[in-house]
Amino acid sequence: MWTFSCPIIAYGDYALEYIAQIQGKKAFIVTDKNIVSLGLLKLVTDQLDAVNIKWQVFDEIEPEPSLATIKKGGVAVGLYQPDWVIGLGGGSCMDAAKAIIILLVQPDLDPDAIIASDTYNFREKAKLMAIPTTSGTGSEATWAIVLTDADNQRKIGLGTTECTPDVAILDPVMVEGMPPQITADTGMDAVCQAIEGYVSTWGTSITEGPGLVAAKQAFQYLPKAYKDGKDLEARKEMQNAAILAGLSFGNSMAGLGHSMGHALGAMYHIPHGRTVGLFLPYTMEYLINGSEETTAKYAEIACFCGVASGSNLECAKALVAKVRSLLKEINQPLSVEDCGIDKTQYEASIPDLIDRALNEVMTMTVSRVPGVEDLGKIFRYAYEGKHINF
Ligand SMILES: [Fe+2]
Repeated sequence: MWTFSCPIIAYGDYALEYIAQIQGKKAFIVTDKNIVSLGLLKLVTDQLDAVNIKWQVFDEIEPEPSLATIKKGGVAVGLYQPDWVIGLGGGSCMDAAKAIIILLVQPDLDPDAIIASDTYNFREKAKLMAIPTTSGTGSEATWAIVLTDADNQRKIGLGTTECTPDVAILDPVMVEGMPPQITADTGMDAVCQAIEGYVSTWGTSITEGPGLVAAKQAFQYLPKAYKDGKDLEARKEMQNAAILAGLSFGNSMAGLGHSMGHALGAMYHIPHGRTVGLFLPYTMEYLINGSEETTAKYAEIACFCGVASGSNLECAKALVAKVRSLLKEINQPLSVEDCGIDKTQYEASIPDLIDRALNEVMTMTVSRVPGVEDLGKIFRYAYEGKHINF
């Protein structure tokens, strides 16, 4: 049996007004201090005030939320006993909310012990809402939780299907002020998730549809949103692309770009979307070189997005070129060297990077699973910006 998890999605102009329709008495809002200072928290609390829902804010989420921060949030949510938990912010805040709502029912649980096979039944106490202020992670539509084990500089992928939010609210007012750099970083996460979700060996026709449309919308609208943040059509279409990509990979699996990106990002503290976008074209080339099945699927994306026509191989290669031209257009790094990482330090860290990538399930859900040797080569080629020829 397969299942497809999806929240109720309120989207478009004035989507925040959906809050007036929820039933509840107390909301616990998980966010960060930046969201508060930007005035975005107030847009949400105004809606809660209008329908007499009390609220409390936990605004201590850091960019790579640590287990210690989640535990602190767990104590606060236990004291407040809300009937809604709202993740407000980027992927970090939404992921943190998913972990914190589990601690509401299991206060003694270590957050890194949240596993897919367990049942927490947190909805007996509270429902979960996600309000993204970036467009890319798709966390508003997925059950995945990425936390950071600060002691070991390691990202930990957690979660259970219960953690798919009940409601996701996509209001363009929440993203129109997003700076270009964050627009680019998070937007590339959406591109990577759309493509990887579409070609995942765990995918089905149910997950392919949203991945395909997400890729098309992101290719068209990410450069526009990057160049002119006030272009509300572009902002709305990127919100849609992000959640569609989330629905695709969240119900199948992301791929090799994500496992290699996670490894680099955790070790060198580079934003998630930037690292996964960086590795996407290299890992696509690797799959094209060894998998006719994935080459054909890349070709389908290329044709649907109007990137190319011709043989599967020609179309798949054109899609890789399209990803690289998009990266250039939005000033994202095309190589690890572009990230400013010292070559000697990088070379010394490659065994650790390989080990981290091999520990990711996403390395195993692609059609050509690399071993230690190939992973090392891809990491090295990506430093130089060399196309993958093996
Ligand atoms: Fe991602």
